[in-house]
Amino acid sequence: MDQASFQHYLTYVSDKDDEHRRILELFNQCITACKAKDQTLAKKLLAEAIVSWEEHVIKEEAFMREIKFPYIGSHQEDHVAFSKRLHNFTYESEYAIQEITTRLITHIDHYDLQYAKWYKDSKNKSE
Ligand SMILES: [Fe+2]
Ligand SMILES: [Fe+2]
Repeated sequence: MDQASFQHYLTYVSDKDDEHRRILELFNQCITACKAKDQTLAKKLLAEAIVSWEEHVIKEEAFMREIKFPYIGSHQEDHVAFSKRLHNFTYESEYAIQEITTRLITHIDHYDLQYAKWYKDSKNKSE
């Protein structure tokens, strides 16, 4: 994803955007490796992306508890669903990686931007 498109998915919450950018960047590199038919590199990058995703989820869920975000339940369920999807990945084709990239962007757009808005609104209220 280019920088201009990424602007639509910014949460403006501390390091969350950097973490999202990092995971998406790893998926992108994975697509490049698939296109070059370098399965070893693709697998390595995918494994790295999974670790980054899991670290991100722990921090993001802690942040949502910290700000007392009320819709954490369904958000967590979607994290679990996406984690399962990543772990069940058996064949690293560029199309499959493109599909999980889109799936992650949909998650950020639908779920992450909700807590971002909640956080922004609650900060404005307390000012
Ligand atoms: Fe999330
Ligand atoms: Fe996120």
